[in-house]
Amino acid sequence: MLRPATATGLTTGHAPFVEEARDRGELYIEQRYDLYSEENHESWRKLYRRLQPRWERYANGHFLKGIEALALSPDRVPRLSDINRRLQPLTGFQAKPVSGYVPGFLFFDCLRRREFPTTITIRPAERMDYLPEPDIFHDVAGHVPMHTERAFADTLVRFGDCAHTAVEMTASIRDPRERARRLTNIIKAMSRFFWFTVEFGLMRGTNGTVAYGSGLLSSYGELEHAIESDEVQRYPVRIEWLINQAAEIDHYQPLLFIVESFDHLFELVDQLEGWMRAGKLDNVAPGLPDIHESDLRSFLDAGHTA
Ligand SMILES: [Fe+2]
Repeated sequence: MLRPATATGLTTGHAPFVEEARDRGELYIEQRYDLYSEENHESWRKLYRRLQPRWERYANGHFLKGIEALALSPDRVPRLSDINRRLQPLTGFQAKPVSGYVPGFLFFDCLRRREFPTTITIRPAERMDYLPEPDIFHDVAGHVPMHTERAFADTLVRFGDCAHTAVEMTASIRDPRERARRLTNIIKAMSRFFWFTVEFGLMRGTNGTVAYGSGLLSSYGELEHAIESDEVQRYPVRIEWLINQAAEIDHYQPLLFIVESFDHLFELVDQLEGWMRAGKLDNVAPGLPDIHESDLRSFLDAGHTA
């Protein structure tokens, strides 16, 4: 039964509607728009208004076009149904509301179906700057505008293909420990690749370097830091670095990688799959991210049902 619409809020860390769904084991949920409180809308407004001038300065052109194509409101938390109505005809992608963390294989498999798992809660107004977990501002204002671009959208689908390839390649390994070890390395490589591109990627622009990574585009402080600071090393992207460099989440990134275009990024994911098939992801450098049991389990389970 639906709870009465008392606008209890959908605030990160305090959203009974989402927490109860999670407790019931429901991953895919609806966006109960009536539950957003005025404070939630105020958080969105503050985040959006503060970042807007920095997007104009530091974001890649496709992102800016995407914001326009989706007609994102600067003032209210967006309705995902409104976004999807505009997004789907462009690339087939849809934002799909979820109750929380989506384990690795399921996440990549969603991308393969052109569904982007989307958090519906928003950070509290007093925590504008740092939030370790994603919220709707990160997911919708940071990620979704990029999904309006064909080559970028196709790149996400290729990540999903890679996850399937990982499952197929390891399904026949008899020794369960070796299978888990091999998958753990592959998941680590894929996570790092995703992190340094989709989340924190830079791109060569006509007037200098711009950002396309969603972690950058949804962070007021880090977006400027990533482009302007002398403390950041920026290198032309190389797959060797993407898969071996530790991904640390608790501070601004000191090392970022530049792609030439989204077609270039697409080719890199092709290359990632080629490397996987050649066994080159079986022994990547140790270090972060730690691969959670739920992520490994999601790949192992996909192998059992394949
Ligand atoms: Fe993200």
